[in-house]
Amino acid sequence: MSMTPRDPARPLSENQHLLKWVEKMAHLTKPAAIHWVDGSEEEHAALCQQMVDSGTLIRLNQEQWPGCYYARSHASDVARVEDRTFICSLSKDSAGPMNNWEDPFKMRKKLKAIFNGCMQGRTMYVLPFSMGPIGSPMSQIGVQLTDSPYVVVNTRIMARIGLPVFKLIDKNVKRVVPCLHSVGAPLAPGQKDVPWPCNNEKYIVHFPESREIWSYGSGYGGNALLGKKCFALRIASNMARDEGWMAEHMLILGVENPQGEKTYVAAAFPSACGKTNLAMLIPPASFPGWKVWTVGDDIAWIKPDDKGKLRAINPEAGFFGVAPGTGDHTNPNAMATLRSNTIFTNVALTPDGGVWWEGMTETPPERCIDWQGNEWTPASGTKAAHPNARFTAPASQCPTIDPAWEDPNGVPLSAIIFGGRRASTIPLVYQAFNWSSGVYMGATMGSETTAAAAGVQGKVRRDPMAMLPFCGYHMGDYFRHWLKMQRTLTETPRIFHVNWFRKDEQGKFLWPGFSENMRILKWIVDRSRVRALARETPIGWMPRYDDIDWSGMPFPKETFEQLQSFKGSDWISEVIGHEELFIQLHDHLPPEMIYERELLICRLRFD
Ligand code: GTP
Ligand code: SPV
Ligand code: MN
Repeated sequence: MSMTPRDPARPLSENQHLLKWVEKMAHLTKPAAIHWVDGSEEEHAALCQQMVDSGTLIRLNQEQWPGCYYARSHASDVARVEDRTFICSLSKDSAGPMNNWEDPFKMRKKLKAIFNGCMQGRTMYVLPFSMGPIGSPMSQIGVQLTDSPYVVVNTRIMARIGLPVFKLIDKNVKRVVPCLHSVGAPLAPGQKDVPWPCNNEKYIVHFPESREIWSYGSGYGGNALLGKKCFALRIASNMARDEGWMAEHMLILGVENPQGEKTYVAAAFPSACGKTNLAMLIPPASFPGWKVWTVGDDIAWIKPDDKGKLRAINPEAGFFGVAPGTGDHTNPNAMATLRSNTIFTNVALTPDGGVWWEGMTETPPERCIDWQGNEWTPASGTKAAHPNARFTAPASQCPTIDPAWEDPNGVPLSAIIFGGRRASTIPLVYQAFNWSSGVYMGATMGSETTAAAAGVQGKVRRDPMAMLPFCGYHMGDYFRHWLKMQRTLTETPRIFHVNWFRKDEQGKFLWPGFSENMRILKWIVDRSRVRALARETPIGWMPRYDDIDWSGMPFPKETFEQLQSFKGSDWISEVIGHEELFIQLHDHLPPEMIYERELLICRLRFD
C-alpha cells in the first residue's frame, strides 16, 4: 500500500452522468470540499476520529465496546417527520390521500432555494450504496450526496457502500437513484460547528417518476439514511409496482424444524412494534431442535421467481433497531449483535464509557448521562434514553443470521404475517381464508402510534401493511398491486395476523410475547405446510387451544380464549374503521376490498 493517503476529492467513478450531477449539486450547495467515499477501514477510522474531535461522536470504552461510538442528536431531531415527508408525483392523484403532495415543479423551485449554499463550510460526501447484495439481480443502486459524516458511517453499516458500488456504476448496468441530503446548517468562515447540526425546517422529498430523493434539515434515521425508508420503501414501492415486485416494511426470518426443514416467513408490523424482536427470536427451551434464522428486520424486497414462487431479499446490511426494551431477556441476539462495531444514538452514557437504556438491564445504573447530556439517576423521573433511541449494528454480527441472508436470489417465502399493536379487539393469531382476504386483512390493519415518528403516541390508526408512512404512491393502487401479484404466482404464501399486545382490564399484557411467540410461529409455519389444525371462524382460521404447542409453558385455557376472542360490538367499530379508510381511497379502491368487507360483515354476529 502506498504511504500517501489518496486525495478524497479525486472522483472514484468515470460515469459522466454521475460526475456531472455531483458538479451540479456542488455548484448548488457550495460545500468547502468534496469527498468521494471508498468505504475503506482507513476512511472509516478517519471519519470517526474527526467526529470524535468535533464532539459529534463519543468513543465508547473500547475494551467493553470495541469499535462502538455514541451520538446524541439535537432534541428536535429524534424521529421520522411524517408531516414533512412529501411524494411529489406529477399528479396529486398518484400520490393519494395518505401522502403529503406538492407540485414537483414548485417543490423543485423551493428545494433549489433552500439547498442553495446549504453545505457552506462543510464537506460534501459522495456516498455510493447498493440496496441488496452487490450485483444481485434484485438489488438497486443509489448515490447519496450528504454533508453529514454521521450519515456516512451509519450507511457503511446499513448498506453496501464504496468502491465495489462505483465499479457497478461505471459498468452502467442499472439506473442510479440520486439522493441529495443536507442537515441544513451551513457554517460561516470561522464559525464553530455544533455536535448535531440540523435545521428546524425539514423536507423529506421524493420524486417518484424521476426516482429522486431530496432530504433537508435532519440528520436522524429514516430522514437522513436515504437508502432505508426513502429509497428501499418509498421509491422502491414505485419501482416494484411498475416492474411486478413488492417493496415491503417487513422482517424476514427462517424457521427450522427438528427435521431440518426451513420455512421462510415475512412479517409486516408498524414501526417499533416488534419486527427486530421477532426476526431474532430464540425458541423456548421446550422447543428442542427448532431454530429461527434472521434474514432481515425491517425491509423486504419480494419478487416472483421463474417458477412463480415469491422470493425475498433484505436490501439492508445492518439493523437500525430500537434500543429501549432490548435486553438479554427480550432479545439476546440483538444484544450480541450490538456488542461491537455499533453506533448508538440517543441512549444514555454510563460513567465507565458504556451505554444504557431502559430495559437493557433490570437494575438501572446508579447514575449516567442521559440522551440530552444531563446527569441522570433512577430518581430523576425522566427517561435516560429517548424512546426512539437506536443502535446501528452490522447484520453479519447477528448470531442467528441466516446462511442464505446474502443469497442474490433471495429466500423462498411461505407465509406473510401482518401485525399491529392493539390493546383490544384483535385476537392473538388468525389466518386469512385466501390471498384476497389476506390482502384485506393487511389493508385494514390498525396499530397504536409509537415514538418512531414525531407526533401523538398510542393512538390507533389504520396502517395498511405497516406501509402508511412508506408507500410512495396511492394506497388504493397499492392494494390493487397486491391483488394483482397473485396472478403472477403458482403458489401464494399463506397470510396471517398476529397481535402480541392485547391487554386485560387492568391494562396488563395478556400474552407473554418474545420467546413465547415461537408457539404461534410454529402454528403458522405448520399451517403453511398444511400440518396444523384450525377451526373456521367469521374472521379467519384460528388455532384451538390444543392446536398450539404449550410444552414447557402451562398457559391457562381461559387466557387463551380471552386472547382469541372477538366481540361483535368491537368489530362493528373495527369494520367502520375499515370503511373510513376505504372512503378516503374510494376512487382507487379495488372492488375486491368492498366484497371482502361485505363478506366479513355477513359472517360476523353483532348481537
Ligand atoms: P422499526 O425499526 O421502527 O420499524 O420497528 P420494529 O418493528 O423493528 O421495532 P422493535 O422490534 O424494535 O419493537 C420494539 C418494541 O416492541 C418494544 O417496545 C418492545 O418491547 C416491543 N415488543 C417486541 N416484541 C414484543 C412482544 O412479543 N410482546 C410485547 N408486549 N412487546 C413486544
Ligand atoms: C421506522 O420508523 O420504521 C424505522 C426507523 O425503521 S427509521 O429508519 O428512522 O425510519
Ligand atoms: Mn421500520
